Amino acid sequence: MATCRVGFMATSACPVQRERRLRERRVRLIPPRASTSSNNNGPANKFSMDRRDVLLGLGGAAAAATVMTPGGVILPAMANPVAPPDLSKCHIATQGAPSGEDKCCPPYSMAEIIDYDFPRTPLRVRRPAHEVKEDTDYMNKYREAVKKMKELKSDHPWNFYQQALVHCAYCNGAYDQVGYPGVALQVHYSWLFLPWHRYYLHFFERILGKLIDDDTFTLPYWNFDVKEGMTMPEIFTSDENSPLYNKNSRNKDHYHPKLLDYRYGYKAGSGSNASSDDELVQLNMSYMRSTFKNSMQLPELFMGDPLRAGEPDSSGKGSGGLEGIHNGIHQFVGPTTNPHTDMGNFATAARDCMFYSLHANVDRLWHLYRNFRGNRVEFNEPDWLDASFVFYDEHERVVRVKVKDCLTPTKLRYTYEEVPIPWMGSIKVQKTKETKRKQDLNLVRISEFGTQPREIGTTPLRVMVPRPKANRRKKDKEEKVELLQIKDIQVASHGPARFDVFVAAPYGDLAGPDFGEFVGSFVKLPHKTTTEEGNNGVAKHNGKKTNLKLGLTALLEDIEAEDAEKLVVTIVPAGGDVTIGGIQLKLVQADSPRLH
Ligand code: C2O
Repeated sequence: MATCRVGFMATSACPVQRERRLRERRVRLIPPRASTSSNNNGPANKFSMDRRDVLLGLGGAAAAATVMTPGGVILPAMANPVAPPDLSKCHIATQGAPSGEDKCCPPYSMAEIIDYDFPRTPLRVRRPAHEVKEDTDYMNKYREAVKKMKELKSDHPWNFYQQALVHCAYCNGAYDQVGYPGVALQVHYSWLFLPWHRYYLHFFERILGKLIDDDTFTLPYWNFDVKEGMTMPEIFTSDENSPLYNKNSRNKDHYHPKLLDYRYGYKAGSGSNASSDDELVQLNMSYMRSTFKNSMQLPELFMGDPLRAGEPDSSGKGSGGLEGIHNGIHQFVGPTTNPHTDMGNFATAARDCMFYSLHANVDRLWHLYRNFRGNRVEFNEPDWLDASFVFYDEHERVVRVKVKDCLTPTKLRYTYEEVPIPWMGSIKVQKTKETKRKQDLNLVRISEFGTQPREIGTTPLRVMVPRPKANRRKKDKEEKVELLQIKDIQVASHGPARFDVFVAAPYGDLAGPDFGEFVGSFVKLPHKTTTEEGNNGVAKHNGKKTNLKLGLTALLEDIEAEDAEKLVVTIVPAGGDVTIGGIQLKLVQADSPRLH
């Protein structure tokens, strides 16, 4: 910890950063490990688990779960990880793919499936897209590889568009879960999101390398969490004749040098309302920082809710904070008009090379999250660890992979070039500190949410929410995470939707005019989730209910609201017909200690 490395966490471990470190006292940044094993117990790695812990944990957490089938039958769910699809039963995608684009079954429906033999090739190092643009050799290779991929026979599984269909198949309901007919296999909105996309990029990257006979080839990552990377990477936008260009629709108004806004949404535009580019950079980084900080103790807040075999994605699951930010970036790239293809729609998103670089950074951010937690297993239970998928590899085999084998990128023989992480060290959480005296304020009385679902129209919804406990002590905060839960969110149309959530301390029973601190957003890409339609053909509430959970423990300290008995929660609508079933604050057992 004494050295001043420039790396994932190391700037904050540096003595010269001491003052900054004191300011950021609640998150200690752990240096990256040198080793490749996910269960390494290096000296700096005090939160890691050893293998025995992992094994002992198996079978425990899953035992109590139950599963409701579409017919309403409740089944016990003893160790019930999501299984790979039956490729021979692939069908027209039923969830949200625009018609004509809903045929996304792979051409290898009858292939033999074997367990993946993990590679022993050199370690590949992924680099930021804004840096590789100067590397002519690399860029020539990258363009060449994609060009070859696009030129392959259209039904070759390596063909660029076949690769894109893999994403559609897993996201738009081309497969039912094995053993659960009618329950679509879905790799978004849950704890499957990060592992599935990690594997997806892994195989895609290795196929590209194979096409140019380079076993060190890597995808560049869109380093959108630093200022220099906060625009669409020019390698994808500057040359319309490049194989990396996507001639289908994109939002060209957002091309470089337009700055990315993490809170961009189709309906509301730039949600951050920053008055300058610098401010927008700070707001984005602050959002990233608080997403990490408030989810450190509870991985589902970062990664997404558990999803076990047989559970439809409509069963009240919610995406993690990282997926939410990523949804906004899909919208930023895709065109503003329905159906927002390519990047704004999961059915087509992977037809744009930018998709893979967006996801490489999402993957890197997961890698960072793991590092910050000392590589502790996020969900120590077989329903996650043994969940499995099927991909077509660079040896033209159909292979089965499990979540537990992708937790350490080096096992997949790649890593990320170490770059500074400015948002971890120097960015203060944006504070809205009310300094005016009470009588100067325009205070209003607001009520609690009540028991009935409420539609959020175009004006902000403000409610008073009691906290389970005020003045929580340090030990209590170590053990339990305070969560804001927005329950049973339903979106009426198939289109995109978004709302932002703010939290403030009240003045007694009254709310001040300021919405307070931004805590996170609900972000939905256009996606049809059911066939239920009203008789005029217009979609009704589609039955899908999701949850949004946001961690508040660190945030309440930041805004000095720990002593409040209630919080003022403000929902600011930003598009879509959204109904909310309830808003609660609760305490949930932490998965791991806070990182001090
Ligand atoms: Cu599978 Cu960025 O989505």
